[in-house]
Amino acid sequence: MLGRGSFGTVYEAQWQARHVAVKVIPNVAEAAEPIEAIIGKKLRHAHVVETYSFERNPHKKGEAWILLEFCGGGSLLQAVRKGTFKDAAGRGGFNIARVVGTALEIAQGMDYLHSRDVLHSDLNCSNVLLTTEGAAKISDFGLSRAFCGQTQATETFGTLSHAPPELVGKGKLSRGADVYAFGVMLVELTRGERAYQGLQPFQVMYAKLCADKESYQLTFPEDTPEPLVSLGRACMQRDHKLRPPFPEVVARLQALRSRVATQSREES
Ligand SMILES: Nc1ncnc2c1ncn2[C@@H]1O[C@H](COP(=O)(O)OP(=O)(O)O)[C@@H](O)[C@H]1O
Ligand SMILES: [Mg+2]
Repeated sequence: MLGRGSFGTVYEAQWQARHVAVKVIPNVAEAAEPIEAIIGKKLRHAHVVETYSFERNPHKKGEAWILLEFCGGGSLLQAVRKGTFKDAAGRGGFNIARVVGTALEIAQGMDYLHSRDVLHSDLNCSNVLLTTEGAAKISDFGLSRAFCGQTQATETFGTLSHAPPELVGKGKLSRGADVYAFGVMLVELTRGERAYQGLQPFQVMYAKLCADKESYQLTFPEDTPEPLVSLGRACMQRDHKLRPPFPEVVARLQALRSRVATQSREES
């Protein structure tokens, strides 16, 4: 078994000579195919978990399987908790090259999803998986949907800690909601812990909706390079229209990556 989710359980298996993850979904109606599988099958990108197939269990009525590309490196949340992004020298900070590298991969995957008019709607560190080599893959399209227009109303909510104010307050979903969630992930990668760690859900909601409560806002560690801080802040802006779209997020991270590479060459 690989993991347990809100729908069912995910197992490791062999399927048509491929190493796969099988998401078992109970109670799927006869002619229905979950949106998750329909959306997943349309996507193909280096940083998005590939959905190979949707199948029904021939031996168990109602049970269906989503066959997925196997990611052997666990979730990004597990990696954050293990200290994968901490500074190797043990100086207490974080490994900037690793954070920027992983953030860039996620941003590229998200840029691709948005270019295909797909909103993820539940982007967070437990829904990004790692390959055995450590590459990031966006996963779990359980709440994803096709997107049309500037914003749309929603009745389904992803993860509170990663939800932007307009989603918590008004149930409004947009590309900017995924960008906001990405900003929260940048805080988690640099801090090495979950956002709003230790706070109760009501406190998190309060933090989201009360702009003036400086003490509740997510912040980056002191040693974070300025371009990363300003990118994170831009992504988490209250006005969703002011958040940078993913092509810009990708470009800013690429620029930062070159800067980090030059600096480490100069230091050595
Ligand atoms: N492709 C995969 N490769 C390896 N493990 C996976 C894969 N997909 C899911 N898992 C594991 O199963 C867990 C639940 O899967 P997920 O798709 O996030 O379900 P849910 O929609 O219920 O959150 C993940 O956190 C992960 O540990
Ligand atoms: Mg999930």
